Amino acid sequence: MKTCYWKLVASSNNAAAHKEAAAFIKAGECIAFPTETVYGLGADGLNEEAVQKIFAAKGRPNDNPLILHISKKETIDQLTTGLNNNAKAIMEHFMPGPITIIVNKSDIVPEAVSAGLPTVAIRWPSHKDAQDFITACGCPIAAPSANISGRPSPTNAQDVLEDMDGKIAGILDGGPCKIGVESTIVDTTEAIPVILRPGGITYEMLTEVLGVVEIDPALHGDPNFKPKAPGMKYRHYAPKAPVYLFEGEATHHLSVCVKEALNKGLTVGVLCDENTAKNLPASEKIYLANWGCDKETLANELFYLLRDFDRTHPDVILAQGVCEEGIGLAIMNRLRKAAGFQIVTLANDVLLLNGREAAMEKLSQLNFIP
Ligand code: TXA
Ligand code: MG
Repeated sequence: MKTCYWKLVASSNNAAAHKEAAAFIKAGECIAFPTETVYGLGADGLNEEAVQKIFAAKGRPNDNPLILHISKKETIDQLTTGLNNNAKAIMEHFMPGPITIIVNKSDIVPEAVSAGLPTVAIRWPSHKDAQDFITACGCPIAAPSANISGRPSPTNAQDVLEDMDGKIAGILDGGPCKIGVESTIVDTTEAIPVILRPGGITYEMLTEVLGVVEIDPALHGDPNFKPKAPGMKYRHYAPKAPVYLFEGEATHHLSVCVKEALNKGLTVGVLCDENTAKNLPASEKIYLANWGCDKETLANELFYLLRDFDRTHPDVILAQGVCEEGIGLAIMNRLRKAAGFQIVTLANDVLLLNGREAAMEKLSQLNFIP
């Protein structure tokens, strides 16, 4: 299939492109489009057959439900049996914006969208072109992130094309996404709202408006808990090389571990801030992803940098964690998943890998560095 391409112009009227792309949606095809978080892979959310094409293009397991995207408040009424006060408060304070709510679904939502669950995920993006495109389609747009399942979400049109060229009807290129990590998902169906996936709207922002907010305990990687968002159980965001995530005090030892890996003759991808980058040895065998000094920049570039490691192909990737305040919670959630929960911490001056001792001289024995 030939994939059509429309270049959108920022803060301008892109109506002709939206209309052409919407015609494909009405014909039951898939179109990739920009949002403020990541690119989405859209299809008519009320057309079961069109929705199936999303699963096929991504290679997505069909037990993983999709988000329905809307472009005006009222559309939600036809998709749900009703909203409670928490859902209404989220809509009022944070929508349109980088947040998704889980609500009880109405009968018109196809089984393929909700993957058999009694609930449906709804998102009203703030991106102007996303809104205008959805309005032009005239239906709710089912859209997951526009990547092949398991790969980092795309935050620019080139990354979408890397995964989707030839598999979908077209792409609206709106340039790089502003936030860079996916929307916050909040389950509003119980008395206390639960964050199923941290994202652009932070835990702190939510508690300020809603009071008590829980975080799905499965997000910490404890295998005793099953994630409530089915998609969170899959290995995700993972570059091909093994990733080790340094958290807390262990981050101060990252540069020493980089040297160890270089001594073993490995090429090393390093994802770190400006200060850590300054302490790294000079070596052609280091592929450095230095994100500077603020977390918003890291959120914005994270998926691009993870994808870049698949272009440079290091033997191993050592990543520096950040504090979990604000957008840090979403960043650490994505990084822990990218690392397959291979986490390096420090206790009493000893490095631990997943809680097991990994003293420097024993790193190779413990397979810390493969
Ligand atoms: O920012 C975003 O949310 C992007 C843009 C394109 O809007 N979309 C996105 O979709 O990240 P996706 O499909 O990659 O992630 C949606 C997540 C999955 O983990 C899925 O399991 C979960 O939402 N989800 C969808 N419906 C659900 C439901 N009814 N109950 C619980 N989790 C649900
Ligand atoms: Mg996704």
